[in-house]
Amino acid sequence: MTEKEFIPTSYTTLKDEGVVAYSSPSNIALVKYWGKRENQIPANPSISFTLASCATITKVHFKKREKKDDNFSFELLFEGEVKDEFKPKINTFLRRIEQYLPFLKDYHFKIDTSNSFPHSSGIASSASGMSALALCFMEMERTFSNAISQEYFNKKVSFLSRLGSGSACRSIEGPLVQWGDCNAFEGSSNLFGIKYPYEVHSVFNNFQDTILLVDKGEKQVSSTVGHELMHGHPFASQRFEQAHNNLEKLRTVFAEGNLNEFISIVESEALTLHAMMMTSSPYFILMKPNTLSIINAIWKFRKESKTHVCFTLDAGANVHLLYPENEREVVLHFIKEVLVPFCQNGQYICDRIGLGAKKL
Ligand code: DP6
Repeated sequence: MTEKEFIPTSYTTLKDEGVVAYSSPSNIALVKYWGKRENQIPANPSISFTLASCATITKVHFKKREKKDDNFSFELLFEGEVKDEFKPKINTFLRRIEQYLPFLKDYHFKIDTSNSFPHSSGIASSASGMSALALCFMEMERTFSNAISQEYFNKKVSFLSRLGSGSACRSIEGPLVQWGDCNAFEGSSNLFGIKYPYEVHSVFNNFQDTILLVDKGEKQVSSTVGHELMHGHPFASQRFEQAHNNLEKLRTVFAEGNLNEFISIVESEALTLHAMMMTSSPYFILMKPNTLSIINAIWKFRKESKTHVCFTLDAGANVHLLYPENEREVVLHFIKEVLVPFCQNGQYICDRIGLGAKKL
């Protein structure tokens, strides 16, 4: 598929007014997207678990404008309060997607959005936030058009989400979504995420993700800047090749349910992501001392308990603990007894893999 196929030719009706609403989840990457080219094209393919409870809920009220001009017209409420500081990001998003949704300037939007996870928890909200908004706009297109298949809808909404934030394109479906051209994955694309197309062993059913909130402060370096720093990075090409290899290996891991191999790929990916940050120019560190204490405690516990808990990291200090459902009780006990003291205000969030966005 090419970008052109996402440009609509005509609409049957443009409704005067209406409301659309979606809940869209966050996701956690197993093979990390880090580095991109122009137009949000990833430098390497990635794959993620879609989460079940960490989500953004967005409602868009749309009303035809009496007079259309060159600007987008919208107001924004975040958790019930006017949030003008989010407007530039949304304006950029609207500009990027306008050619694919040519009705955007015909309407005034009231965007009402909130997160299910605690405000400023340091959890990336761009994936859930951008995908929830893209879903609302795409739902508008569906009501203006004759027949849009669910398959086209999912592809286009993932395509649009990607233009808001790369990782957002992996939040539409679940439980596993792959994004980025990759020989090992039929149907893979740099333009949108696809639902994992191969066999997955039952050991991954209802896999758990407990997110330890280590540092809830503002990151010193944003993901956007971090991606930029992969241009001219001394290890970039080896890293991109490694991501391809890891994706290929994960295919076998998912089919066979090989948890030990899963652990070594996922933890290596997390540490490589942070190694890329530490070897960028300028270099930076997003992990905190407690991030390392948690990692060491997980390694010790895993050895002693013979469980299959592992960690992954996003572009921040928080730690995601991934483990099979049948080890939930013993791992949660370990988290409460050993890891909670390393969390800011003792906070953590229990989530698990989910099936994607929901229309409300
Ligand atoms: C470390 O999707 O936040 O979470 O495309 O600039 O919005 P932008 O970046 P973003 O990057 C996410 C990076 C990551 C890894 C991942 O989710 O694959």
